[in-house]
Amino acid sequence: MFRDVTTNNGNREPNADKELYRQLRRRSWEELWMKEVPLFNGALPVERLKRVALIRAVGVVFSESGSSGQGNEVRMWLRGLLEDPAEKIRRYAMNALPKVGAGHEEEGDMLALLRSTQNEREKKFLAGALEKIGGSETLAVVRGVLPQTEQKTRAAVARSECPGAVRLDRMLEDFEGVRIHLRGRRGLEGVMCSEVEAQGKFRVLEVGSGLVAMEPTAPFQLADVFALRCFGTAGFLLGPDGSLAAVMTSPLARKILTAFTEGPVRYRLDFVSKGHQRGAVRELANRVYAMCPEILNDPRSALWSMDIFTASRSETVELRPRWSPDPRFAYRLKDVPAASHPPLAACMARLGGKAEVVWDPFCGSGVELIECALRGGVRRLVGTDRSPDAIAIARANFAASGVESVEADFVCSDFREHGPIAGPGSVDLIITNPPLGMRVPIRDLSALISDLLAVAAVVLKPGGRLVFVNPVRMENPHPLLALKSRQTVDMSGFDCRMEVYVKSAKG
Ligand SMILES: C[S@@+](CC[C@H](N)C(=O)[O-])C[C@H]1O[C@@H](n2cnc3c(N)ncnc32)[C@H](O)[C@@H]1O
Repeated sequence: MFRDVTTNNGNREPNADKELYRQLRRRSWEELWMKEVPLFNGALPVERLKRVALIRAVGVVFSESGSSGQGNEVRMWLRGLLEDPAEKIRRYAMNALPKVGAGHEEEGDMLALLRSTQNEREKKFLAGALEKIGGSETLAVVRGVLPQTEQKTRAAVARSECPGAVRLDRMLEDFEGVRIHLRGRRGLEGVMCSEVEAQGKFRVLEVGSGLVAMEPTAPFQLADVFALRCFGTAGFLLGPDGSLAAVMTSPLARKILTAFTEGPVRYRLDFVSKGHQRGAVRELANRVYAMCPEILNDPRSALWSMDIFTASRSETVELRPRWSPDPRFAYRLKDVPAASHPPLAACMARLGGKAEVVWDPFCGSGVELIECALRGGVRRLVGTDRSPDAIAIARANFAASGVESVEADFVCSDFREHGPIAGPGSVDLIITNPPLGMRVPIRDLSALISDLLAVAAVVLKPGGRLVFVNPVRMENPHPLLALKSRQTVDMSGFDCRMEVYVKSAKG
């Protein structure tokens, strides 16, 4: 049984409901449903009000650990509470209902209450609950009356009835004013630029830290942007002129959204590097809806993200397609701990250049090798990893990549035992992201990297290349390997060197 929180003079503490909720929240579902709910049901009205936090706890604990077979019973109980004479109890019930899978019937109950109540606070809470569970029936009632609920419900209806898609194959004919920001790792901007220039469909305008700004040179499809593999995310720059809402609904935003979206436009808002900004998001979404009701804010499975970047004095918006998975890397069915981000692997493959025989000594899930194969010109791939799970994953990912006519050997072995699969002077390119000693401690990281360089000097053909992320600072590490390039790269929180070595022609 719960302990109520009362002061010495018998009054309840101001935070009594919260405190009681905290106590109940820790209980098991069975205890709440079998003991506390019957007590609540049998209590006098004044006692029920003191125990109102139970309703909130039931919603939350059921959503986490309740048995789905009991869902109906729980919803029936909460629906009954919507008819309670006490407004506070009704309010708690309407807040809990969305958590327990409320649907059409509960929507009907809440709409009936919305029509009958004169209490403004109750109307506000009903609107909030309907924003979470409402469908077309809610839309018919709130249209023109409750704009925020209207916009959220329209987004929910669109999501369930016509989810739509961002289309890679649509053409944007009127490309004037379009500027695309490719974002990637600090240190790899040069590789991103070289890919853009080699493709020839966009012109590089500006390069910043982890950023390449480009503009199209002709009508283009989104597929042209996503044919580039070295960036992490791509967004269309909107603004900076005008208020955020004006920028988000500008003719430029509308033409991009119309061109590339099938179905209703649904977006989510992200104040980049500012964390959750619930109030600001709500306010901005409401303003955008008032200016352009065709653009719907939908934090759940939105097609687009409007990323808001704050600079010293201005804010800019980038309109970014949200994919899951990114269509460029859909082959990655599974990964391993410390797996490389595919755009990093794509940058490495680009740095490696064309090669017929490629070996990744620490292949993990195989992304570096697959990215090499996707660039073309590869005849044979070899992946070694001492983890059998990694080898199984690399094989599955390679199969999903659809790369044909490349012989691929994935072998569970220590890279030092390379003899049977990668003999002396047989490999054009070694490409690898070795253990970096950050997540999985390595006893002697320097020795491991020295061994890798020694093995590379044996296995590479004369003129062959080694591309790898080097966690150890070393100058002239091997007499047969000449450093061709080195760049410091942000590896998500720590810096490493991306190095390219060429084996001497004499070796
Ligand atoms: C950073 S992860 C590689 C990630 C990989 N590039 C990917 O994207 O999945 C390093 C891998 O090296 C493997 N490894 C560690 N020591 C090894 C060794 N001596 N020989 C072969 N593989 C090793 C680990 O099992 C791990 O899968």
